Amino acid sequence: MAQEIRIEDIGDYVGQEVTLKGWLYNSTGKGRLHFLQVRDGTGIVQAVAFKPELGPELFETIKRLGQESSLIVTGTVRQDQRAPGVPGGYELGVSDLTVLQEAEDYPITPKEHGVEFLMDNRHLWLRSSQQWAIMRVRATIKRAIIDWLDDNGFLNVDTPIITPSAAEGTSTLFEVQYFDDKAYLAQTGQLYNEANIMAFGKVYCFGPTFRAEQSKTRRHLAEFWMVEPEIAFCDLDCLMEIEEQFVSYIVQTTLRERRDELALLQRDLTALEMVHPPFPRISYDEALERLAAIREATDDPALKELLAIEWGSDFGSPHETELTKQFDKPVFVYGYPSAVKAFYMEPWPGRPEVCKSVDLLAPEGYGEIIGGSERMSDPEMLVQAIERHQLPLEHYHWYIDLRRYGSVPHSGFGLGLERTVAWICGIPHIRETSPFPRTLKRMYP
Ligand code: 4AD
Ligand code: MG
Repeated sequence: MAQEIRIEDIGDYVGQEVTLKGWLYNSTGKGRLHFLQVRDGTGIVQAVAFKPELGPELFETIKRLGQESSLIVTGTVRQDQRAPGVPGGYELGVSDLTVLQEAEDYPITPKEHGVEFLMDNRHLWLRSSQQWAIMRVRATIKRAIIDWLDDNGFLNVDTPIITPSAAEGTSTLFEVQYFDDKAYLAQTGQLYNEANIMAFGKVYCFGPTFRAEQSKTRRHLAEFWMVEPEIAFCDLDCLMEIEEQFVSYIVQTTLRERRDELALLQRDLTALEMVHPPFPRISYDEALERLAAIREATDDPALKELLAIEWGSDFGSPHETELTKQFDKPVFVYGYPSAVKAFYMEPWPGRPEVCKSVDLLAPEGYGEIIGGSERMSDPEMLVQAIERHQLPLEHYHWYIDLRRYGSVPHSGFGLGLERTVAWICGIPHIRETSPFPRTLKRMYP
């Protein structure tokens, strides 16, 4: 039996007979030749069946095979620059083929399908080459996130999924029954990480996060993955420095390790190549001035109306999109009005209506991928903030304790994995960044 290999390694086996296990992606034929596009999860390669070598019976079976039939194919690896599939140009001259299961009438064909149809068939759509590329990029981004944090002295500490109270606003909570009590799925691990840093210095949690987002947008999922680093003895400037190093590492690592996948997605790589520190930093006030100037300059009445905003309001997607178009790198916007941010942010010295928050907006119109802040360190002020936000104080005694026993300036941020994947892949909608996305209207399959 020939050596079993994976398609991504095929370049190491030119001239040798090998065996591949996979599925039929597509096929065409002409006379005594039949061309099978075989995929195995690591790539696609063309296998060429030649009737005189295989005999009429096997050749007829091969010609009949439907898309996504499972098979084991043996053959000799040839280098051919014209061959489609694996970059570098390789193909397999088939010497033997076993069919495990013949698939018929596979619903997803190379023709165009509507998004709802594709989402209903997400369990099958994942096999398509674009979706395959996105998931491979996602896995690399996850790995890069963990590698950078582990290499830079952050301890991975897990935070609970079942929580007694809100941290990021009460309007997006998923309620669950907790024995005789009510609980909520975690919107963030941050508050627990603030306890963790007082024990470990620098920590991160990385896991699923839940928000009952009521609006249907290109940027929101009900379940998404967030990585949340938290750092003791770190102010807002220190936080921005960490974020720009971190994000640049993620982008450059993905560019290096997933070039073929990004090319398959037709991603403009030059835009990603620019992502190196430092990133531009503008205040909320300056962002408003820029938006006013954009409104002033545009002849488009719809855009004028979309961009209307007064001091004190949060940005919507159109504001973020227009702002980020002005920069070719991610841009920090800091110092938002306290009223639009969570309760735990440190006030700006001398300007209590502003907080030491910072969002990182991705370029090319992608918008917010990170939300972060310096945390409030005064216990009395924190009690007032909790009361102002009408949160139940009894759930936060432990959190206020952190300010009583060795309080230190500290900061942290949360990066949304799916939004980061959408940006790096250059795809317009977040739903394709998750293998089985959960949205307002969908939890099937
Ligand atoms: O800005 P957010 O709400 O910040 C926090 O949750 C902080 N507790 C994080 C921290 O400081 N430790 O969310 C952080 C990021 C957003 O920038 C976005 O990338 C992502 O999480 N995010 C979502 N991604 C997809 N779907 C949603 N519904 C999201 N909500 C937030
Ligand atoms: Mg945010």
